[in-house]
Parts: sequence; C-alpha cells; structure tokens
Amino acid sequence: MKAKTPSDSLTIVTEIVLPNDTNNLKNLFGGRLLSWMDRASAIAAHRHCKRIVVTSSVNNVSFNQPIPQGSIVTLEARVSRAFTSSMEVFVDVYIEDQTVAGKKVRANEAIYTFVAVDQLGNPINVPALIPETELEKKRYEGALRRRQLALILSGKMKPSEASELKALFFSPEEIANLENHENKGNDKA
Ligand SMILES: CC(C)(COP(=O)(O)OP(=O)(O)OC[C@H]1O[C@@H](n2cnc3c(N)ncnc32)[C@H](O)[C@@H]1OP(=O)(O)O)[C@@H](O)C(=O)NCCC(=O)NCCS
Repeated sequence: MKAKTPSDSLTIVTEIVLPNDTNNLKNLFGGRLLSWMDRASAIAAHRHCKRIVVTSSVNNVSFNQPIPQGSIVTLEARVSRAFTSSMEVFVDVYIEDQTVAGKKVRANEAIYTFVAVDQLGNPINVPALIPETELEKKRYEGALRRRQLALILSGKMKPSEASELKALFFSPEEIANLENHENKGNDKA
C-alpha cells in the first residue's frame, strides 16, 4: 500500500450556525459541533484508506470558546498518524463572524480515532502516513502517546506496557526502577 500524506486526506467542511443549532445562550450546541467533527473526520479517514471506517474513540475535544449564532464555521480534518488498522484524525475548527472584517479565529479542536473495516466489520490494514510540515510531525509523534492513553482508558492496554506514555512522566532511570519493582512483584506472585 502506498504511503499517504496528511494533505491527501484533508477534508474541509463549512457550516453556518442557524437558530436550530444553538443552546439557550444562542451559541452553537456542543452536540452539533461533535456531529460535524465526526463527519468531517470520517471523510478524512476514508480518504486516507479508501475503505469503510468506523469511529473507535474520541480522544480529545476542547471547546475553547463559544461559537455564536450566525458564525460561519470551517472544519479542517486530516489524518495525523496511521497505525495498523487505526488512524488518528485531527479536526481544527475555525470561526468567522459576519461583519465586514470577517475576522477568522481558531475556536476548537478534536482528535478522533477511526478503524478501517471490511464488509463484516473486521479491522483491515491501512496505508502508512508520512508527515510533512512541522505541525504534522509534532502531531504524528504525539499520536503514539494518545493511542496508549486511549487504550489504557478503554481497558485494552496495561499501563505498564505504555512505554512512550511513561517516558512523559518518568526519567529512564525511574522507568528502569519501576520495571525492576514490577518484575520482583511478578516473581513473588
Ligand atoms: C473499532 C472496532 C472495529 C475495533 O475492533 P476490535 O475488535 O477492538 O479490534 P482490535 O482490538 O483488533 O483493534 C483494532 C484497532 O483499533 C484500535 N482500537 C481499539 N479500541 C480503541 C480505542 N478505544 N482507542 C483507540 N484505538 C482503539 C486498536 O488499537 C487497533 O489499532 P491497530 O490495528 O492500528 O493496532 C470495534 O470495536 C467496533 O466495531 N466498534 C464500534 C464502532 C462503531 O460502531 N462506531 C460508531 C459509534 S456509534
């Protein structure tokens, strides 16, 4: 399978916040934004692998600022890393107001994980991803730690197996001590 770049999966979706999309404060309802982000990131994941994809986890959503009614919302989704059958997708959300200045600001972001599946829903392999820009490289590097965290939280990985995640919090010496301690515990058991 030919490796892809994040630009190969770039998906841009533009929406306008209408009254039906808002909460009691006349700001965009969070659930509506989540739905828009899920759709945009599903299309990006599909563009990367050209297969059926399913949402496997929503790793992080930051609602950094409210999005008022009438705003024009642009979502940019792209694959940030591909593993075996799973792909991490970043969604950046920008808003522009409807004044003459049309000021555009980055309002929110989200990180999704999708898995490519066959017709029976079984995971299948996806092409590798080659990051190009500095931001793409930074996101690519962080994806392994985010994947380990998501797998630990969903009970699919033991914290002791998450080496990249441990390296964020402990020095190499501390990790060696921890592993010695764990091994001694296992020997006693
Ligand atoms: C996603 C799904 C196909 C994974 O199936 P599974 O039996 O857990 O498969 P595996 O354990 O082999 O994992 C497959 C991949 O998913 C990844 N994965 C599984 N759970 C994950 C989680 N919570 N977070 C991040 N990645 C996860 C695994 O790391 C693996 O990635 P890799 O192949 O790149 O190494 C399955 O759980 C599913 O169909 N879920 C429902 C999806 C759906 O309906 N989504 C819409 C929500 S309404």
